[in-house]
Amino acid sequence: MASPKLASIALLLTIFNLMINTSHSVSPTSSPAPAPTPAAARAPSAAPRQSTPSPPGIIRAAYWESFSDFPPSAINTSHFTHVYYAFLLPEPTTYKLNITQSDEILLPQFTSALSEKNPPVKTLLSIGGAFPPSVAQVFAEMSQSTKSRAVFIWSAIRVARKYGFDGLDIDWEYPASEREMRDFGRLLKQCRQTLALEAAVMGKPRLLLTGAVYYSARMENSGPARTYPGPEMNKYMDWVNPMTYDYHGSWENFTGPNAALFDPNGKLSTEYGIGSWLEAGVSAQKLVMGLPLYGRTWVLEDPSDHGIGSKALAPGPGEGVLGYDAVREWNAANKASVVYDGESVSYYSVANGSWVGYDDQMSIDLKIQYARMKGLGGYFFWALGQNRNFAIPKLGKLNLLSLVLTFCVR
Ligand SMILES: *[C@@H]1O[C@H](CO)[C@@H](O)[C@H](O)[C@H]1NC(C)=O
Ligand SMILES: *[C@@H]1O[C@H](CO)[C@@H](O)[C@H](O)[C@H]1NC(C)=O
Ligand SMILES: *[C@@H]1O[C@H](CO)[C@@H](O)[C@H](O)[C@H]1NC(C)=O
Ligand SMILES: *[C@@H]1O[C@H](CO)[C@@H](O)[C@H](O)[C@H]1NC(C)=O
Repeated sequence: MASPKLASIALLLTIFNLMINTSHSVSPTSSPAPAPTPAAARAPSAAPRQSTPSPPGIIRAAYWESFSDFPPSAINTSHFTHVYYAFLLPEPTTYKLNITQSDEILLPQFTSALSEKNPPVKTLLSIGGAFPPSVAQVFAEMSQSTKSRAVFIWSAIRVARKYGFDGLDIDWEYPASEREMRDFGRLLKQCRQTLALEAAVMGKPRLLLTGAVYYSARMENSGPARTYPGPEMNKYMDWVNPMTYDYHGSWENFTGPNAALFDPNGKLSTEYGIGSWLEAGVSAQKLVMGLPLYGRTWVLEDPSDHGIGSKALAPGPGEGVLGYDAVREWNAANKASVVYDGESVSYYSVANGSWVGYDDQMSIDLKIQYARMKGLGGYFFWALGQNRNFAIPKLGKLNLLSLVLTFCVR
């Protein structure tokens, strides 16, 4: 069952939203006061003089795909605090990062383009990702011993420092057993300790440590049921990025929202995922919620049956995935009918026997407000280049009314 309280808050937010759009906004450079560093966030006591960056108040992050044709120089940094370079991969036998020829060109381009921007953003090097799937096994093997973890960590630090990154992001998709979850916790602990040591020795600010993880702390949909090491993650990571999307897609034979905020029939929702992370021991302030800049598509079995959960035959336009801009273009080109579904807080469009589930302004706006209401560290977008004029990331701008609302409702 959807929480009636949250549903009514969502409704309230919808009403306030209409008002917010006409209200005055505070200057974009004013951000809320940074939250105090919780004791658990401090590095192990071994580190002498701490130059640890304090946790940011509201994180607005985005991933950039190194294989995309959207150049880093086109990123408008006013909409973000942190931008991730996705991805580098560890080599399967040495566990050192594989810097390909194109990475050699793109890594320095990325960090220099973003550091020259006004306002500047922090950059993080993201390691792993979903492809090829065999990279999960490389993480699993590497994480088994102190020695191989050290090789991986020092290689990542060297690359991050060489190209001027501010942090590391571990995207192990996914630890496949309780044992691998435990090793993931060990990897994080050793990584954080090494980062603190390196910073102290080099007299530099410590590199940040984050990670992209499954939408919920408990994994029970594929492979053996297992739980992320929440307490270790909370202790050793600066923040955690749950990938709160990909709930439904053309791998299923029915339509469904890509990133429902609420799921009245089950656990495939961001509300469930965030709740599960809190329950697992990751503090709200360390959770940075994922927002998709893309939708998922199907060909309907019967074009006249086109609600959420309707029967579907195959992947739709874009072979099952369309970026936000492409969805809007497809909608316009096909004169699609667009439906906002308040129950899941998502949109879908229907035309020519196809169905597209996606997020648009209101659903994103509500999710951002949900994140603030829950006291989360912030949110991130996957991925840059899918909304080239930043109409969607722009929605995160703080304004007076959303701030008042956030603190009153919380
Ligand atoms: C970046 O976004 C800001 C805020 O919306 C806007 O004022 C500025 O003109 C944008 N910069 C560019 C280069 O488009
Ligand atoms: C590094 O990546 C490139 C491109 O995918 C690949 O051809 C090469 O074999 C990799 N090197 C190692 C040592 O894994
Ligand atoms: C949809 O897929 C499920 C599970 O794979 C299967 O049991 C069911 O028969 C399929 N339905 C249709 C209409 O193909
Ligand atoms: C309509 O859908 C069919 C397949 O379902 C596709 O072949 C055709 O190109 C689509 N037409 C348009 C205008 O998108």
